[in-house]
Amino acid sequence: MFHKNTTLGEFIIENQSSFPYSSGELSKLINAIRLAAKVVNHEVNKAGLVDIIGNAGDINIQGEDQQKLDVLANEKFIQTLKNREIVCGIASEEEDHFISVNSSDNKHQNKYIVLIDPLDGSSNIDVNVSVGTIFSIYRRVTPLGTPVTMEDFLQPGRDQIAAGYIVYGTSTMLVYTTGDGVNGFTLNPALGTFYLSHPNMEFPETGKIYSVNEGNYVHFPQGVKDYIKYCQKEEGDRPYTSRYIGSLVSDFHRNMIKGGIYIYPKSSVATEGKLRLLYECNPMAFIAEQAKGKASNGFKAIMDIVPTELHQRVPFFCGSRRMVEKAEEFMKVK
Ligand code: AHG
Ligand code: MN
Ligand code: MN
Repeated sequence: MFHKNTTLGEFIIENQSSFPYSSGELSKLINAIRLAAKVVNHEVNKAGLVDIIGNAGDINIQGEDQQKLDVLANEKFIQTLKNREIVCGIASEEEDHFISVNSSDNKHQNKYIVLIDPLDGSSNIDVNVSVGTIFSIYRRVTPLGTPVTMEDFLQPGRDQIAAGYIVYGTSTMLVYTTGDGVNGFTLNPALGTFYLSHPNMEFPETGKIYSVNEGNYVHFPQGVKDYIKYCQKEEGDRPYTSRYIGSLVSDFHRNMIKGGIYIYPKSSVATEGKLRLLYECNPMAFIAEQAKGKASNGFKAIMDIVPTELHQRVPFFCGSRRMVEKAEEFMKVK
């Protein structure tokens, strides 16, 4: 339906009428994220120059403080979202509390809540390995005209209106869903324009890649240990290939294209796992399900979990549908 040189801007406009509550505001919101993504992309691309232009905490040549990229990405996304009269609340992995946005002439009339992991995989920045941004969008549940409350942020993933990620990789891509499939856009850095490069992205039903930090093996639940042994067994299309970047966004992106499973289980040292339900797992789960994949905590769908805290962690099993189902079988036994 779309030709290959459709830009993200065109795509957003053309799809506006298919949004469930179409008023143009969600389009504006995605446009704001598109803009912030370009700004952060520019900063990420310069990361290797920190030794030349200064480290975090230093004063740069313009007399400005150098900031850590995760702090900077956080500020850029929050600023860009606040500057538009669309968002009533923002929660970020980098902030202890949620932010209530109250634009001056429009007292608490905005509808949308945004949750973000501004820089995912940030430890990879220093070694020139791909990082990302993850975002999740909901409609507020408290009445318009009142300040947002925790209730607006603690909605189950099923209630997401849109979710997406940006991967700052060998090329920069923005991948998102508004509940009508998943589309991927690649940035042409010379023009600063995202083009539709990956229409209707789907996880292969099964795959041959498993992605897990096996260094933590001894601490994993027995079901995960057994599933890993299953992946490594010589039988049928196994052993599978192990690939783990340590940036959820990049590991997920590769597995969606090639077929695979990503696992961050709970362990005896991280009793709830590591990944955050609201900023990481729910948005990735929405994208996964929209791309015919699956996301689970080992026992039930991630998006059915009712959150209790802003920074809640959950075990995460996500990827090709049949692989996640197989991992769940192993979890059930032990
Ligand atoms: P963040 O940089 O936002 O804190 O997220 C890092 C996450 C995720 O991206 C990655 O898959 C995982 O942490 C890696 O954790 P381990 O180093 O424990 O494997
Ligand atoms: Mn993260
Ligand atoms: Mn982060």
